[in-house]
This record gives sequence, C-alpha cells and structure tokens, in this order.
Amino acid sequence: MKIVSVVGARPQFIKLAPVSRAIRAAGHHEIIVHTGQHYDERMSGAFFVELDIPQPDHNLGIGSGRHGEQTGHMLAAIEDALLRERPDGLVVFGDTNSTLAAALAAVKLHIPVGHVEAGLRSFDRKMPEEINRVVTDHVASQLYCPTQAAVDHLKDEGVTSGVHLTGDVMFDMLLSMRPRLEQRERDLLRQFGVTAGAFTLATVHRAASTDDPEALSRIMDGLQRLESAVVFPIHPRTRKLIDQYGLHVGGQIQVVEPLGYLDMLTLTASAFRVVTDSGGVQKEAFLLGTPCVTLRDSTEWPETINAGWNTLVAFDPDAMLAAWRAEPPDRPIVNPYGEGDAAQRIAALLSAWPATR
Ligand code: UD1
Ligand code: UDP
Repeated sequence: MKIVSVVGARPQFIKLAPVSRAIRAAGHHEIIVHTGQHYDERMSGAFFVELDIPQPDHNLGIGSGRHGEQTGHMLAAIEDALLRERPDGLVVFGDTNSTLAAALAAVKLHIPVGHVEAGLRSFDRKMPEEINRVVTDHVASQLYCPTQAAVDHLKDEGVTSGVHLTGDVMFDMLLSMRPRLEQRERDLLRQFGVTAGAFTLATVHRAASTDDPEALSRIMDGLQRLESAVVFPIHPRTRKLIDQYGLHVGGQIQVVEPLGYLDMLTLTASAFRVVTDSGGVQKEAFLLGTPCVTLRDSTEWPETINAGWNTLVAFDPDAMLAAWRAEPPDRPIVNPYGEGDAAQRIAALLSAWPATR
C-alpha cells in the first residue's frame, strides 16, 4: 500500500521516526511530506539526521504565518501533493496546524486518514491544538489512541468506529533511546556546567505562555526564583518574543539553542525538576522519573498528574516554586502509555485498510 505521512513541526518528527520505520518494515510504500511549518535546522533537519528518518519526498516550504494563512497554504499544497501521489491512505501526527491541514486535504479527496495520538483533550478550546485535535479526530477513519482516557474521550464525542488503543509512539521512541542516556550524561552536563540532580530543565513555547507579555514575564520571573541553575533550550518563537518584549533573561537561567532528542532526554532524566508548557516534555519527564512543573492550567496527559509526578501551576511564580520544592510520591510510576510497540500496531492496522485506488 502507498501511505503518505505528513509532518511539519518538531514533535511530529519524533513521532514519525518509529512509525515510518514500522510502516516500511510492514512492506508499505511510504511517502513523507514535510509542510515546512518548522524550518530552522535545529527544529527540523537535525531530527531527520539524528533519528535516521528518510528525507521528505516533498518539502512544501510553507513556513510561519497566522493560523488561517499558514493552514490555508498548507491545505492547498498538501492537496497538490496528494493529487500527484494518489496514496491509499494518509497518516497524521498530534495536533499542529500541519495535522489539521493534511487531514482536511485528504478527507476531501476521499483518502482515508489515520491519526496518531488520537483522542487527547485538554478541554480548552482556546488552544489552537485542541481545535486541531477535535477536527482531525472527527474526519479520521483510523484513530490510534495512546491511552484508555483518549479512547474514552472519543466515545464521549460519539466517535467509536476505527478507534484503536495502540499505546504511545513517543514511549516507543523513548524506550529505544533510553540505553544511550547514561553514556551521554557526563559530557552533556560538563558542556552546560551543571551537576546531575541539581539543575532544572525548562522549555516554554505555547501561544498562551508567549503571546501575552505579562504571562511570559511571570514565567521568566518564576524561573529566576527557582533554587537551582536552569538550562533553558529556547524555542525560536520564545526567543523572538523575549526580544520583542525587551525581557531580561540572565542570572541562573542559561539560555541554550534547541537541543537534539538524545540530549533533551538525557537532560530530562538528569534534572532535579522539569518546568515546561510542552505536551511531549511533560510525558517524557514522567517516564524518566523526573518530577514536572507544568506552566498550564490543563493537560492532555492527566495520568502524569494523577500519579503525583506533574503539577499544573499556570504562570504563578509562587505556585511554581512551591511545586518545584515539593517531593514526588514514593510509590512506583505505573506506565499507562503501552508496551513500546505502538508503531508496529499502527503499521499492522494500516495493512488492514482496504486499498482504495
Ligand atoms: C507549533 C504547534 C504546537 C507545537 C509546537 C512544537 C500549531 C498551532 N502549533 O507551535 O502545537 O507544540 O509547534 O514545537 O501548529 N519559528 C522559527 N523557526 C522555526 C519554527 C518557528 O523561527 O523553525 C518561529 C516563527 O517566528 C513562528 C513561531 O516560531 O512564527 C511559531 O511557529 P509555529 O510553527 O507557528 O508555532 P509553534 O509555536 O512552533
Ligand atoms: N525536544 C527536543 N529538543 C528541545 C525541546 C524539545 O528534542 O530543545 C523534544 C522533546 O524531548 C519532545 C518534543 O521535542 O520529544 C516536544 O516538542 P515540543 O515541546 O516542541 O512540542 P509539544 O510536545 O508541546 O507539542
């Protein structure tokens, strides 16, 4: 079968890596389409090299823009690519504008859509990602859910056909990298001048955290008040807005370029605490046993909260410090994200799709 996988933003390259490998191992002909939503080398190209993902067959070069503008340009360009490729199915990942555009382009051409990371909900419709998830789930014909909670959300919305509990492909990916973290740790900690278990790893990029100068200023203030060094791999969006607002970032906060995946996981495992508004990073902190402080008031990964390893603090510096100081529970972490074979399960489900053309 001919399958088109569409990606565009950093977390999607990480999700694509195991899925692409499994799709090809199952004997399918995979075509990779990169929308170009992320384009800096460290946000895009570097992941294809590091994770050994085949180079995209089509790079649409869409780049940045307002939501409608960016999504609209993607929709037109993906439609062109699909008309040329005429695949039997299309796979999308997560909840970005690239996900939404690809799902819409395909479904209008009657190409069945498979959604990796289906059923996640924050129940906050002001998040662009929530709109992208809901729409994508409602046009997809195969829905690959990472958790039982995701299956339940879809059921609550009346989506029951084509729903599969596969486990989480990011857990597959993390498992495959885990044996390499210990070896990488010493050099990396030396590079950043920090000590294992005595620093904080922070990431910030979400619209809600960065588009409002007051929110971003409170977050930076909160990071400044933590009682450890802070390594802060900065998303280009956040760098631009910090400059635009004229915020001062210094002192214990060490701003560094976006990291590669192995380095990011290594620092996550080694940190005393992770402070983030990222979806993927919350989950990785949990799986690597590092308590997480989340700069949001909702999350798509409630299992991490229920286990006591993640705390939502929104943008409140006092709450941030209190959560950062708190000790995690000593009960063992129960992993709700599958068996590490989500990508293979997805590839097997694709094989069950009737070839349509
Ligand atoms: C996007 C996703 C978000 C995801 C995140 C992962 C949407 C609506 N948002 O957010 O769900 O969590 O990716 O990182 O799809 N920029 C660069 N270089 C790049 C990429 C972006 O400079 O390579 C800057 C541009 O100024 C751009 C801004 O970052 O306007 C935002 O990029 P965009 O892709 O629109 O959204 P993200 O915040 O990255
Ligand atoms: N990540 C990375 N380098 C970084 C920051 C994040 O490799 O400097 C990885 C991180 O380990 C996770 C994914 O990118 O696997 C999360 O992406 P991001 O935070 O951009 O998006 P989200 O998950 O919030 O959609």
